[in-house]
Amino acid sequence: MAKANRIQNRQNKPIKTGFHRKKKTGRGNFVVQDEFAIQAQKAWYRARSIYKLLEIQERFELIKPDYVVLDVGCAPGSFLQGIRNIVKQNTIVGIDLKPCKPFSHKNIHTIVWDIFDYNNVSQAVTQIIWSDQFDIITSDIAPNTTGRKDVDQYASVELNIEIVQFSDRFLKKWWNLLLKVFQWEDFNDLTQQIKKRFTDMKVYKPRACRDSSHEVYVICFEKKA
Ligand SMILES: C[S@@+](CC[C@H](N)C(=O)[O-])C[C@H]1O[C@@H](n2cnc3c(N)ncnc32)[C@H](O)[C@@H]1O
Repeated sequence: MAKANRIQNRQNKPIKTGFHRKKKTGRGNFVVQDEFAIQAQKAWYRARSIYKLLEIQERFELIKPDYVVLDVGCAPGSFLQGIRNIVKQNTIVGIDLKPCKPFSHKNIHTIVWDIFDYNNVSQAVTQIIWSDQFDIITSDIAPNTTGRKDVDQYASVELNIEIVQFSDRFLKKWWNLLLKVFQWEDFNDLTQQIKKRFTDMKVYKPRACRDSSHEVYVICFEKKA
């Protein structure tokens, strides 16, 4: 392989990294497909983001087979696919403003809702698991981007502060929260909120995050109250 970098796919085969190609999406439009996007397509994953979750899981073992999991901002559903590889029996709930294509696995439930509409989210969730408290919350939510890095990064921090507050209600005490954020000047505003509520936190950038992006994942360990 030309490049030293390798990651493992679902079948545990090494895949090439360090190349990309352009895919035509419409009249005159192209998206750049990197090795993660190409590999995700081959493995029938719904998005390349799964490789970020898989790497975080390999490193931190956040998700265990007996957990009840909430994935916020779940569409199109690749995180849910990754979680289902670990949680085979227990309930996995995904929430997004957009619908996901149905899953064949009976333990994956998706809800189309704004996660900040707490009362309706709680009502929808309790119909599935008889409680609105989860063993872990994963979030890959991103704000609508404007193309202006400072604006987008500020919006991402604000959104994540709200997700930390969301965890006050929907995450069990002593359990963990995974966030995605664009790290920039306002990042300290977020970390202050996390430190108030969680025992520890770690910032981690998986290899599947694009080099040009300030995107990182924040693992918040052990909610205090
Ligand atoms: C990067 S995508 C998530 C990709 C997903 N993790 C996967 O692996 O397929 C971000 C998602 O966050 C959702 N989102 C943004 N704000 C939201 C909100 N307030 N409530 C629910 N979902 C939201 C968007 O609709 C979008 O689908």
